[in-house]
Amino acid sequence: MINKKIIIAIDGLSGSGKSSTAKLLAKEMNYKYLDSGAMYRAVTLYIIENSIDYKNLKMLKTILDKIELEFIKDDMSGFYQIHLNNKNVEKKIRSKKVSELVSEISKISIIRKKLVQMQRTIGNKKGIVMEGRDIGTVVFPRAELKIFMKADLDIRAKRRFNEFEKLGKKISLEEVKSNLTDRDNKDSNREDSPLKVTSDSLILDTTLISLEEQIEFIKKEAKKITN
Ligand code: DC
Repeated sequence: MINKKIIIAIDGLSGSGKSSTAKLLAKEMNYKYLDSGAMYRAVTLYIIENSIDYKNLKMLKTILDKIELEFIKDDMSGFYQIHLNNKNVEKKIRSKKVSELVSEISKISIIRKKLVQMQRTIGNKKGIVMEGRDIGTVVFPRAELKIFMKADLDIRAKRRFNEFEKLGKKISLEEVKSNLTDRDNKDSNREDSPLKVTSDSLILDTTLISLEEQIEFIKKEAKKITN
């Protein structure tokens, strides 16, 4: 018997572990993976690299038609990576510059509208893990499984700091912490599609549990629906 394919929506706070969990979960379940944060980051990168005045709405409309985003499976790692106008930008979108501007850019409604449309087109076929801030509330409010991930700020900052250190990026723990706090505030308080927990989400607090435990938890919940 073929198992039913579903949409797994993973939303949550910055640095709560959504990406690592969603990526690995998709790989283990042989599902597609969509990192909506990477899409907002890629648009931000385009705006930075092309010195776009993002406050000029007319200009924004024109550039959105020039932006093509695709998730392509990397043969080496087996993970999906984002491509902006046919270039792999998976690494570039994680820079400090992009991280600092992305919340500002993701507040803009015409950008959200365009990206949500793309996300729905990709996700409609199901069999996908989608992560972000508004997947379970706006993009796919009828997703069969909704997870909301959170963790203590200190733990989230330490994990992010370690990731930066591994990449050889110089940034202090305090700076990482303040960027996370700033993004949490902006993501939760913006007018369009703020980050919030829905009544049908399962809360996954990752402060004290390992990546493997997180995956097991979600797989078990998914099995209850697909079997
Ligand atoms: O998940 P991330 O940290 O890579 O996301 C980058 C930013 O994009 C985050 O600060 C908020 C924004 N974002 C959003 O507004 N909506 C989403 N669905 C995903 C991310």
